[in-house]
Amino acid sequence: MIVVGGSASKSLSGELARQLGCKLADVEIKRFPDEECYVKVQGLGGQDAVIVQSTYPDPNIVELFLLQEAVRDAGAATITTVVPYYGYARQDKSFNDGEAVSALIMAKHLGQGCDRVFTIDIHNPSVLVGFAVPVQNLSAMPIIGNWLKENDVDVIVSPDEGSKDRASLAAEAAQCPWDFLQKTRLDGETVEIKPKNLDVRGKSVAIVDDIIATGGTMITAANQLKEQGASNVIAACTHGLFTGGSIPKLEAAFDTVISTDTLERSTSKISAAKAITEALES
Ligand code: R5P
Repeated sequence: MIVVGGSASKSLSGELARQLGCKLADVEIKRFPDEECYVKVQGLGGQDAVIVQSTYPDPNIVELFLLQEAVRDAGAATITTVVPYYGYARQDKSFNDGEAVSALIMAKHLGQGCDRVFTIDIHNPSVLVGFAVPVQNLSAMPIIGNWLKENDVDVIVSPDEGSKDRASLAAEAAQCPWDFLQKTRLDGETVEIKPKNLDVRGKSVAIVDDIIATGGTMITAANQLKEQGASNVIAACTHGLFTGGSIPKLEAAFDTVISTDTLERSTSKISAAKAITEALES
């Protein structure tokens, strides 16, 4: 097996190769003065290639298409494409007439250049039907749960009931209780957000989510949990998208902000490589 690291996922590719005990392919990736992408891959004859490339922002999608073709031409026996952060995952249906269902369109095209695909904590796994090749959605939640356990978290919550499976997965690894946050309208002006069942007084609470973008969901919840007496509040996500410069706002609201390396950020304190390693070795 050989790992082919795309430029969006250099650190994750390196860690994956280290965990698998295999080599990183000799890849040259650069941009021409007009920003078009150039890719050169050599010497993969007969090897099982694992391309790792997040598809965000847009230029990284084109780079992945070029990598898939170049890896095939370099003689790889099989190609697994790992898409750590899957761009466009949140446009998972046509919300209004005429809208492109971007998540499905990406699946259709990304699947064409390889033999199988791994995604990680994709926003809505139902879009995986768009792939014409075998696909598996992995989760970094157990890895996040392990980190939270090492950092003495007492309770893990998801921001809403719809995402409670993520809290449950992380809590299983952390061996702590979990819950989901529930919004209750108290009056025309006030909305209370609190765990459905658990009391957070004096507790270290982690909110886990697939993506943090603007941070709006997380920050509102953190402020309320602190008002409810939480002693420590941690924001943990797989994909630290952090749009609109949300890291300083999140760092002001939380005691700790962590994300994985599916997107390489200053908060990427955890690697998702173990989830990929386990899937490749199973
Ligand atoms: C939404 O369904 C996702 O799971 C995240 O909760 C959402 O994308 C976070 O967005 P933001 O950080 O902008 O609140």
